[in-house]
Formats: sequence, structure tokens, C-alpha cells
Amino acid sequence: MAEKVKNLINGKWVDCAAKKNFKSINPANVKEVIGLVPESGGADVERAVAAARSAFRGWSLTPAPRRGEILYRAAEMLVRRKKELGELVIREMGKVKPEAFGDVQEAIDMTYYMAGEGRRLSGETVPSELENKDAKSVRVPIGVVAQITPWNFPIAIPSWKITPALVCGNTVVFKPSPETSVCATRFVEILHDAGLPPGVLNLVHGEGVPVGEAMVRHPDVNGVSFTGSNAVGEKLAGICASLHKHFTMETGGKNPVIVMDDADLDLAVDGCIWGGFGTSGQRCTAASRVIVHEAIHDKFLKAFVARAKRLRLGSGIDPKVDVGPVISEKQFKKVLGYLEIGQKEGAQVVLGGKAYKKGPCAKGYFIEPTIFTEVKPKMRIAQEEIFGPVVAVLKTRSLEEAIEIANGISFGLSAAIYTQDVNRSAIAERDLDTGLVYVNASTIGAEIQLPFGGTKRTGLGPREAGGRGGALDLYTKWKVVYRDFSGRLQKAQIDKE
Ligand code: UN1
Repeated sequence: MAEKVKNLINGKWVDCAAKKNFKSINPANVKEVIGLVPESGGADVERAVAAARSAFRGWSLTPAPRRGEILYRAAEMLVRRKKELGELVIREMGKVKPEAFGDVQEAIDMTYYMAGEGRRLSGETVPSELENKDAKSVRVPIGVVAQITPWNFPIAIPSWKITPALVCGNTVVFKPSPETSVCATRFVEILHDAGLPPGVLNLVHGEGVPVGEAMVRHPDVNGVSFTGSNAVGEKLAGICASLHKHFTMETGGKNPVIVMDDADLDLAVDGCIWGGFGTSGQRCTAASRVIVHEAIHDKFLKAFVARAKRLRLGSGIDPKVDVGPVISEKQFKKVLGYLEIGQKEGAQVVLGGKAYKKGPCAKGYFIEPTIFTEVKPKMRIAQEEIFGPVVAVLKTRSLEEAIEIANGISFGLSAAIYTQDVNRSAIAERDLDTGLVYVNASTIGAEIQLPFGGTKRTGLGPREAGGRGGALDLYTKWKVVYRDFSGRLQKAQIDKE
């Protein structure tokens, strides 16, 4: 049964001005419509921004611990509704059960964490150069922030963006990916029911153009946070720079796992399976390149292929299934396109390589877990983000060469090394040019209490997640206050001799 969802504007659930809907579907069975979703436009954005603007002062003056308490209530509600939300993630996004429930758990963790930040929004107090003078920095909210999220973590990523923005005292206009509109609505509903005042969090459904772009260009929007493709992110970055808006984006990844000749091979194989094919490879942290030492290359490959062959495809509703569909027809075609590109470039398909249409899978966007060998570092399948169940295996002669290959791309989100040698792990930790480095663990599974993000074309601006040095820096700006209580003119910065 399709559910009709609405926009949330100024505390009210409303249809869009044009009264038109689009469909959100189940990618494991494209005939199943999950949601009928408002196809919003500029007029809806206008109302949402106006609501966020007028709610801003009251919310920013609400003591941060009080703001945190509302988030705490929301976290408790998420816990109570975990099963319902997890099942919705399976149906609307296509994740398998443990990952769908993990998506919700990540939102629970983030919401509790940010609730606590309400009592920790600290700046610094430092000694002044002068007598009887205070010198301190204070965090102040940015204002109205526009937030645009992708479909691959349909509950978790909205929580990464919305909860820190709110605890810091900003008001929000949120546009989720159209593909996972119902999941996003459910998350917003919980925050709303937890007691947010009207206008503090507004939800506008729809496409990047017109909705996202109108949000970003709106003169009353002070900050923008975007997770999605490089093409869109880079365009938005340009708009924000020209309009002097705070901006942050998380975009692509092409994350390597280095497997050294001294690695625990079973552990490395498990990590490459989990990182490469988990979420059908649709994570920006996915382990899409495996760089294997030549001494163990063939042995590793045999074990890796044998394990990947055993992965069962299907709808996540079935608890025996390991790999779900990809999200949409567009992604399906894109991934299949890369399977052709890889073969044309001269890489060998040793597993998979095509769509999977057996039984009920014919009804959805299923692609066989695919492993390419004979991959060279400059091939497109070793350079570009595919965002599907596709792993490129490369061969290396040394740790130094492996790190060079790992770094020889335009992204820098996550990287992993499997080795038992403490010195090799230390060199990798130092030299891998990525925001996240894993030792004897796969490239996925970052925890919310540390900053998340990467180098080069992976992102821009302060990191998401984490507290100080992460999300709090993203959603506050600094005000520095000097207070002179000496009662006389004191001059800083004069020659002290
Ligand atoms: C993403 O794919 O955009 O580290 C985020 C991980 C998850 C988050 C992934 N915690 O894989």
C-alpha cells in the first residue's frame, strides 16, 4: 500500500503548491509503490525558508541543553520504532536487514550523541595580553541551513545533518533524495513529535532542480550542507562561494583495501566482501579497489571469488539474503555501463559481470557481485566511483607501490590495510591520503563520534559527525569576545619594549 507523504512547513504537514506527486518505489520490486510524494517547487521552498527564518531567533535563544533534550526524546522514539523504520529502509532503499537496521541504529547513536552536545557546545577562554580583560570564543549558530541528503543512508545521513544543526541553534530546510522520501519523512516526523517548535525543521520533497537549487540560492539561507554526487556538489559549491554562504559537501570515494603478503587472509577476504558488496557497493566508503601483494595475489583471489560466489541476492525482506538491489534504473544502467567499460579496457571479469534476473529478482534492479582482475591503476574502473557491487583487484610488488596506487586517484575518503606488521601499518596510516584509515578492518563502518569525511575531491568544508573538529564546527561560527573591565584605556598590540 502506497503511503501519501507530505511536506512539513512551519509545523504543519502540507501538500506542495502544485498538488502534484511522484512515486517512490521498492528497488527490489519496481511495481511496488512505497510512497506518493509531493513534487515541490520554488513556492514551497519560499514558504519553508520563511518559516525557518521566523523560527530562528526563538530557537537560537532556547538554551542548548533544552534543544538537546528534544533530541534525546527523538532518540528514544527512534529506539522504540527501530523495527518499523528498519523495515521501511528495506522496502524503500533495498538494504538487507542487518544493514537497514544498522542505518536506523546509526541515526539513534547520532541523535543521542548530539543531544549530549547540548551541554558541551564549548568555545575557549584564554588569557588576555592585558590586565583585567577577558578573551573568549563563543559558538553561534549559522542561521537557516539548507540540507540535501542522498538515498544510500536514508535515515542515518539525515540524522548526521539535522541533529547537529538543531542542537547548535540553527533552523533547517531539508530536502531528502526523492528515492527515499518516505524514510526521510518518518525521521522528520519523529523529530517533530519529540517537540520541535514550528518552523525549526522544515521538509520539502522533490528533485534537486528545482527544489535543492532554489534552497541553495535563497538569500535567506545562510548555510548549505550537501551529500551526493561530485557534479551536483561542485555546482552548489560555486553558487555558495559567490553568495558567501557556509558550505560543506561530502561526495565521492574510490576506497582501496591493501592486502599485504603477511595479512591474515581469511580476515582480509571477509573485509573485502563486507566492504565491497555490503549495501550492494552503494556506500561512499565502499571497498571498490583491492590492492594485493603479488606473493599472495592468486591465493587471495581464489578465496575472494569463492566467498563472493556464495553471496545470495534478493529482497532484504528475506533474512537469508546477503546482497540487495541497486537503488534505481539510473544506477542500474550506470553500473552495467561500467561493467562494459571495464571489459573494454582489458580487465577480466572473474565473477558476475551482468544483471541478475533469476526468479523474483527479475522484478528489481539486481546486479551480480562482480570482481575484475588484471586491473591497471589508470583504468576508469580503478579511478571512477561506480557505486555498485563491483570490485577491482590490482596487483602490487611492495607497500610503497600499493600506497602510491591507493593515493593515485582524485578521491580520498577511506582506505584500509591488512598486515600483521606494526611498522607497515604505521607507514600506511601516515601515508594514505584519506580522511579515514582502517588497519585490519574494512573501509566501511565509520562511527558517529569522530569526524567523517575525506581529502581531495571527496569533500569540502568542515567534517560531518563527531563533535568539536567535526559537526559542531560545521553548524556554528565563531564569535570572539574581548571584555575590558579595567576602566581605563588599555592598548593591545603596541611595542612592549
Ligand atoms: C556514506 O556512504 O555516505 O562508514 C556514508 C560507513 C557508514 C557511513 C557511510 N557509517 O560506511
